[in-house]
Amino acid sequence: MKLQQKVIIITGASKGLGVSMAETCSREGANVVLAARSKPQLEAVAERILQSGGEVETVPTDMSCPEQLDALVARTVERFGRIDGLINNAGVNYVKPFLEIDPAEWRRVLDVDLTGSFLLTQLCARRMAHQGRGGSIVQIASVHTHASLAGAAPYDAAKHGMVGFSKAAAVELAPLGIRVNILSPGLCETEIWKDIVAAAPSEKECIDYWNANIPGGRLITAEEISRCCVFLLSNDSSCITGANIFADLGMTSLLVSREPYVSSAIASQ
Ligand SMILES: NC(=O)c1ccc[n+]([C@@H]2O[C@H](COP(=O)([O-])OP(=O)(O)OC[C@H]3O[C@@H](n4cnc5c(N)ncnc54)[C@H](O)[C@@H]3O)[C@@H](O)[C@H]2O)c1
Repeated sequence: MKLQQKVIIITGASKGLGVSMAETCSREGANVVLAARSKPQLEAVAERILQSGGEVETVPTDMSCPEQLDALVARTVERFGRIDGLINNAGVNYVKPFLEIDPAEWRRVLDVDLTGSFLLTQLCARRMAHQGRGGSIVQIASVHTHASLAGAAPYDAAKHGMVGFSKAAAVELAPLGIRVNILSPGLCETEIWKDIVAAAPSEKECIDYWNANIPGGRLITAEEISRCCVFLLSNDSSCITGANIFADLGMTSLLVSREPYVSSAIASQ
């Protein structure tokens, strides 16, 4: 097991990728602390982990509330005695035309996706520094740290900001053995995907379009993203810090869309 006895906080663990991260870290031997706003949803995830023999704590937490982040860290230390890892996964997606975004909407996205993850990183890193045994922090950003889509300004600003402060933290904390990395997923099979399909005029055209624009030709599973987190939290990645790793099946390496035009010169070679 890659995370035996490590104490790991996972935010946004009530649904989507965070549930898979929690279950996967637990299967790898970690004691997991699950944070999100919904107590019943967190408890449902915790129940499954307990039934599989894992150690788990739930702490209802709103990422935009600094006092609740303090309480999350305090409860983790009270229950398990230390913190070895953090996955800053909680996030709000948000799509609105650039010219229509109002200041309150901008602040709401940045409060959760950027300021919340900064403050929690700082709190966990302080604790890790105090413990003196290193640690690993994984920031879940996005392919939006490479390029954008229409309507994504606050989300993109927040995720770029996450990369920025994490690189600074990685440099400062490396002498203490505390690593900070960014994992930037491509399009995953979660609620976000269901929303995209539901909003499309044709489900088949939507699926064909995305499959054609992802070099890997498919969506990424939550389990695949979770395995990347396990790698970054474990000693297997001991020489990696300050990296922004794209888990995107090649999406950000593709210069332009594969469709609708394919050069006949290339095709005939
Ligand atoms: N799903 C994808 O395709 C994809 C791609 C790239 C990046 N991401 C990133 O991965 C992360 C998880 O995405 P997901 O698809 O599982 O999303 P999701 O909406 O299914 O889950 C988000 C989680 O964050 C929690 N959350 C939201 N606001 C919160 C707040 N104020 N306080 C505490 N928790 C809060 C939610 O309760 C939920 O548990 C996000 O940071 C997202 O930006 C997702």
